[in-house]
Amino acid sequence: MRNPTIFLREEYEDLVKNSLDWKLRVLQGPSTPWCTVDGKKVLMFCSNNYLGLSNHPRLKEAAIRAVQTHGAGSGSVRPIAGNMDLHIELEKRLAKFKHADASLVYQTGFAANAGLIPQLADKGDIIISDELNHGSIIDGVRLSHAERAVYKHADAQDLQRVLEEAEKHEPPYRRILIITDGVFSMDGDIAPLDKIAKVAAEHGAMVYVDDAHGEGVLGEGGRGIVSHFKLQRDKVQVEMGTFSKAFGVVGGHVSGSRDLVNFAYNKSRTWTLSGSHPPAVAAACIAAIDVLESEPQHVKTLWEHTRNFKRAMKDLGFNIGNSQTPITPIIVGESSVAKKLSARLFEEGIFALAIVFPMVARDKARIRTIMNAALTKKDLDFAIGVFEKVGKELHII
Ligand SMILES: Cc1ncc(COP(=O)(O)O)c(C=O)c1O
Repeated sequence: MRNPTIFLREEYEDLVKNSLDWKLRVLQGPSTPWCTVDGKKVLMFCSNNYLGLSNHPRLKEAAIRAVQTHGAGSGSVRPIAGNMDLHIELEKRLAKFKHADASLVYQTGFAANAGLIPQLADKGDIIISDELNHGSIIDGVRLSHAERAVYKHADAQDLQRVLEEAEKHEPPYRRILIITDGVFSMDGDIAPLDKIAKVAAEHGAMVYVDDAHGEGVLGEGGRGIVSHFKLQRDKVQVEMGTFSKAFGVVGGHVSGSRDLVNFAYNKSRTWTLSGSHPPAVAAACIAAIDVLESEPQHVKTLWEHTRNFKRAMKDLGFNIGNSQTPITPIIVGESSVAKKLSARLFEEGIFALAIVFPMVARDKARIRTIMNAALTKKDLDFAIGVFEKVGKELHII
């Protein structure tokens, strides 16, 4: 007889046996530089809350106020009865912030990629992806009926080769969609979006950038990668992002032309068939944009800390890869060494997760640190001291 559920336990046990299961830590309270994780006071070094906005008083006040004025939930999907004035205001504010014609907010960044990508390219089209794109892009591409091709990581010349190859296809592809992460989350390097946009324009291809780790970090006042490269809007047709990282809340978004937004909200199934954000989320996201526009010091401090930390880690002899952003990998090679380093850092008061195979290559296991503007200079010195102590103890430096 068939056992309908035995695979659940077997597959889980297999993951545990190979140390590939997620061992969840519990954050007891807000995501602040000094926080409580599993009952221990530690310095947060692996959160995406780059600017410390998740616990900013203006965001919290906005969320509380929205609950009082609009309730706890929206009651529906947006196309039916869940389209609140707060959602509309957020989209207007985001478009203005991004200097775009229009923006559309999704429930999450994952929902934006999974909902929009398969609509932008279908049978008779081709999607061309950077080989290291985020999993939510990969899943979005898998939902499309378009053909697929991959170019070498962050290599515009290889993209050019793939495009030339694609042009030989008979019958000619109807549409070509190029997708890249803006900042790559495992290494902290930046996609050469200026070169990608130039090559794309020569082939009439559409460019889609996932700027989840660039927003609030790169560009004028944290406006993201399109601003960083000072690119014209029509050269990068889809700028996708998330409110779950530097903005400190939750929610995905796309910005671009009015045509893009009109198309996207009518076609994305994750948008039309899934409940809209609770009012508190929309209001907190609006407040996050307010803070970015009126308190430029957060982005400035983030970069000061980033430069100091990278310099110190390099001087100590750690391998920090080629990161150009506040994501600083500490590459140690063996998975077991990365796990040991993470465990010892935690015991000494630093919370930084190990990233191991299959998330990165087998010999590139690492600790991924993410800088935070809410840290003080004293916090940073403490962290550098702990990295030095544990790095020497484990013979990494
Ligand atoms: C590059 C990238 N894209 C998309 C996402 C998904 O964003 P969200 O957390 O809003 O679903 C993430 C988050 O991990 C990401 O790193």
